[in-house]
Amino acid sequence: MMISKKMQDALNSQLNKELFSSYLYLAMAAYFEEENLTGMARWMKLQSDEEHVHAMKFYDFIIRVGARVKLEKLEKPQEKWESPQSAFEAALEHEKFITKSINELLDLAVVEKDHATSTFLHWFVDEQVEEEATAAEIVENFKLVGESKSGLFMLDRELGRRGSVPQA
Ligand code: FEO
Repeated sequence: MMISKKMQDALNSQLNKELFSSYLYLAMAAYFEEENLTGMARWMKLQSDEEHVHAMKFYDFIIRVGARVKLEKLEKPQEKWESPQSAFEAALEHEKFITKSINELLDLAVVEKDHATSTFLHWFVDEQVEEEATAAEIVENFKLVGESKSGLFMLDRELGRRGSVPQA
């Protein structure tokens, strides 16, 4: 294989984190369904799909470099949040955690002079900038809306207009 055993393990660990992200956002989608916020539920379902696409990018890369995909157990995601805003705040915190994890992976690739993995990871570095910016903007929108019921209704409509996820 083209990559080290250590890199193989780190890539598999990131594959697990992306699958968990998909699982977490699906749990948030189900929470929003319960709250009758169908626009937010749709947004989270699409986000869950997007994370599955991310996971599959790792899957395909691991195979392409002749390494072994190892699927580990998925953590059980949280089921309830204090408020719709706190769910999106949790999504933002989760994306920050993922960014840190991608950066650590890239650090390892640089130390190992693994150019193939470094180049592969650059797409994720850019993607994480987008992911954090999008989540942060939604959290800001919640702050503007405050306690307003009609504001929440409008934000739900707005988020429900999200387009579908382009496949990798
Ligand atoms: Fe796969 Fe939301 O980062």
